[in-house]
Amino acid sequence: MIYLKNAQQIECMRKAGAILFEVLCRLREAIKPGMSTAELDVYAEQLIRKHKAIPSFLDYNGYPASICASLNEEVVHGIPADNVIIQEGDVLSVDCGLILDGWQSDSAFTVGVGQISPEKQKLIQVTEECFFKGVRQAIAGNHVGDIGHAVQEHAESHGYGVIRDLTGHGIGRNMHEEPSIPNFGKAGHGVKLRPGMALAIEPMIAMGDWRVEELEDGWTIVTADSSICSHYEHTIVVNENGLPELLSYPGFALTEEAQ
Ligand code: MF3
Ligand code: CO
Repeated sequence: MIYLKNAQQIECMRKAGAILFEVLCRLREAIKPGMSTAELDVYAEQLIRKHKAIPSFLDYNGYPASICASLNEEVVHGIPADNVIIQEGDVLSVDCGLILDGWQSDSAFTVGVGQISPEKQKLIQVTEECFFKGVRQAIAGNHVGDIGHAVQEHAESHGYGVIRDLTGHGIGRNMHEEPSIPNFGKAGHGVKLRPGMALAIEPMIAMGDWRVEELEDGWTIVTADSSICSHYEHTIVVNENGLPELLSYPGFALTEEAQ
């Protein structure tokens, strides 16, 4: 069942998205070599609660933290820990979600810590580009496959692997709603997009092969070939004009993005 959101509900999701954007900006600034991923998690929870929102990841299916902090070959769902120290040269993905007045927002970014190699920088940049190529396809009348197709084409044109085992998703009162949004696919295929659909679009792109494994902690997903991975995500809505609005990136106008 796909739950379409009305204008009032979209306004609620806009407020949740604006707070999440603020939280992620603060987290991005806070990342320094030598700090633990647990410190970043504590800071995230403080920021979320300061805004009177609820960390959506905490206790989600037993998940023990408010963010996922995934380093290097970790794709997603890295569990923050005191003994995981962020190092110069690392590629760090931070994924975070919150609930405001019952409405969810979900967003992730990837940064290089200190100086990183041009190859790693390129991966991070292309992953963001993949997101923007994908979200431009989130237009009423298009299909879910148009999003995945755009993401896949861009990633693979750079020789990267598109993670297939994890996808984006509908979002609203629940973090994960229908439809799922794969980062690969056929143009014109899949669910037709309609005004009021709220989606989390989240390309996960590996420098090498797309195959992944789960670690014994039951959460952390790593690339099977240990290649570096990058992740970028926003919560968006197909608005009443049939166009995508980035709820977790307030004020961002897609037309201004030079691609
Ligand atoms: N943000 C993730 C997603 O995009 C979900 C995190 S799972 C959790 O689907 F358990 F960490 F919450
Ligand atoms: Co998500």
